[in-house]
Amino acid sequence: MSHFPKLFSTMKLGPYTLRNRIESAPMGMHGTPEGYMTAENAAYYELRAKGGAAIVTLGESMVDSKGTSHGRVNPLDDPGILPSLINTTDAIKRHGAVASIELLHAGIRSRSPRPDGAVYGPSAGTSFYGKKIIEMGEAEIEPVVNAFGDAAEMAKLGGVQMCMIHGGHGWLLSQWLSPLHNHRKDRFGGSIENRARIVMMIIENIREKCGRNFPIEIRLSGDEFTEGGMKLEETVELAKVLDGKVDMIHVSAATFNDRTAGLRMFPSVFLPRGCNVYLAEAIKKAVKTPVVTVGSLNDPAHMEEILESGKADMVTLGRALLADPYLPEKARKGNEEDITPCIRCNYCISQNFTPYVKYPRGVASCVVNPIIGREYESRFVQVSGGKKKVMVVGGGPGGMQAAITAADRGHEVILCEKGKRLGGTLLYAEHEYFKEDVKKLTEVLIRRVQKRPIKLMMDTEVTPKVVREISPDVLIAAVGAEPIIPNIPGIKNRNMVVAASMYDEDAIGKKVVVIGGGLVGCEEGLHLGHLGREVTILEMLEKAAPEAPYLHWLGLMKELEKSAQLETRVKVTRVTEGGVFAVNEKGEERFYEADTILLAVGLKPRTEVVESLRNCAPDFVVIGDCQRPATVMEAMHMGYFSAMNI
Ligand SMILES: Cc1cc2nc3c(=O)[nH]c(=O)nc-3n(C[C@H](O)[C@H](O)[C@H](O)COP(=O)(O)O)c2cc1C
Repeated sequence: MSHFPKLFSTMKLGPYTLRNRIESAPMGMHGTPEGYMTAENAAYYELRAKGGAAIVTLGESMVDSKGTSHGRVNPLDDPGILPSLINTTDAIKRHGAVASIELLHAGIRSRSPRPDGAVYGPSAGTSFYGKKIIEMGEAEIEPVVNAFGDAAEMAKLGGVQMCMIHGGHGWLLSQWLSPLHNHRKDRFGGSIENRARIVMMIIENIREKCGRNFPIEIRLSGDEFTEGGMKLEETVELAKVLDGKVDMIHVSAATFNDRTAGLRMFPSVFLPRGCNVYLAEAIKKAVKTPVVTVGSLNDPAHMEEILESGKADMVTLGRALLADPYLPEKARKGNEEDITPCIRCNYCISQNFTPYVKYPRGVASCVVNPIIGREYESRFVQVSGGKKKVMVVGGGPGGMQAAITAADRGHEVILCEKGKRLGGTLLYAEHEYFKEDVKKLTEVLIRRVQKRPIKLMMDTEVTPKVVREISPDVLIAAVGAEPIIPNIPGIKNRNMVVAASMYDEDAIGKKVVVIGGGLVGCEEGLHLGHLGREVTILEMLEKAAPEAPYLHWLGLMKELEKSAQLETRVKVTRVTEGGVFAVNEKGEERFYEADTILLAVGLKPRTEVVESLRNCAPDFVVIGDCQRPATVMEAMHMGYFSAMNI
């Protein structure tokens, strides 16, 4: 019997018996220029079926490819999609999961097919994106309704077993549902029944074309969290209209008509886990149809509690299943301690978040899971050359990942760490109030090291002599970096606290100046501000923390507004006993009083240590911060792939 009996109880959905209560969220990935899926896409979805999710939902798929808003996503009005759809759904179904697909029309968020750039929507006006909106008449409504039905039929031909209609997030159907966009006076406007009319017509159309044995789930925004938009009370009324007409009601949140919507749609690290559960709970109380909750769930015990207390019937996981596609299987078997936690850094989604990034990267990736986006190619890796002795120097995220992967590949592994704890740069992060998942990640990696036959040498400063004694075939240097101490007058005469180090928080004075507004400086400054210190962050460049994934950056800047003062384009000129002098872009000098100065101007690789080890073993690999100042993602990925190459 599982630790989580409710989470792993079966559930009837149309003709299917779902193996558990975990749905893999729609998370699209770019395919070919025509929008077809590739072998890489199929493998990306397959991994989540293999990991144990009951339903795997293919991401946004266009019911009308002329109404597309992002490129390269399954055009369901083009039979050319079928071979790739069949391959992908086969890959999902052969692992016992149900294959679903998200049906979407972008409406006023579409790329316009018209020379004047105008788009079609429920009511005339100007879109949030500055485009002219032409009001859809009945003549335009009918083809859209048909397009949804035809798309579902195409999907079914492609082996899809159920669908998720996208009725939230500000796409076409939520434009009809929401008073933000629907100002009509006819039978499609006004009351909630009228605004939902097009959705009901679509549901009927899909039923006619796909039959009762093709379950329909509808994704809604429980609350649009936008002025003038749908509030929970109205979504509850909408759910009553949908009750019994669809097979599942899926409750997400927010709308793209708000520039900060992404912080809620892909809940940021500054929101509590399960921040949308109360929305699902309110809807569940009003309907008989099963209700699904989504948003920031990554802990099976939490999921069990949500289901057990009757707040929802099923949970949907997005990023948590990128971080660890095997989350369901690990939880079912009682190995939940080995789940790699999603740390909500939002790297996965930010890299495709146009217009904030100039072009979407179009490939999937995850900071804490090197496999994501490389599921296909990683099938072809094989152990070559038999068992080797692998020595890893440095127990940070890169070093630990290298040791774990090398051990899993059957090599003899020795991991050396000069300190008393494994974790490296991850350790400093764990004291920050919004990084509980980074702490979990560190613990998971440490447990993985301990559970493997890895010889651990703690408190060991590795010198060429130590390497020669051990005599490894492969030496992996993961010795990290050290803080840069800039050449600012007065800096040597005053005690400084170095960011990203294990300093004593109680020793930090009331007034704090952070020199350097990169990601580390901003996060540390935020944390100290949260602890009640008066924090000023000084950054030389125009933009603070430019290296942060866009959505994390957005959340961070919003939080900083509450807890700290951030000044950009200011250059620190000297440091004194009382504080810091800095000049702004006009050349004006100002004094910033500081009880504590936190230095966060970056890191430099420990090149000397690396070079001292270079010729000590037949094969030598340099990974992470000691190669170049690296992110946790780069360190873990380098660790993984360096070991995969042995
Ligand atoms: C990489 C990525 C791609 C996504 N693509 C889609 C999509 O195609 N359609 C959609 O409705 N939501 C999409 N989402 C949102 C997720 O379905 C989910 O609602 C959101 O990530 C919140 O759940 P989570 O906190 O479990 O990640 C995407 C999210 C991510 C991280």
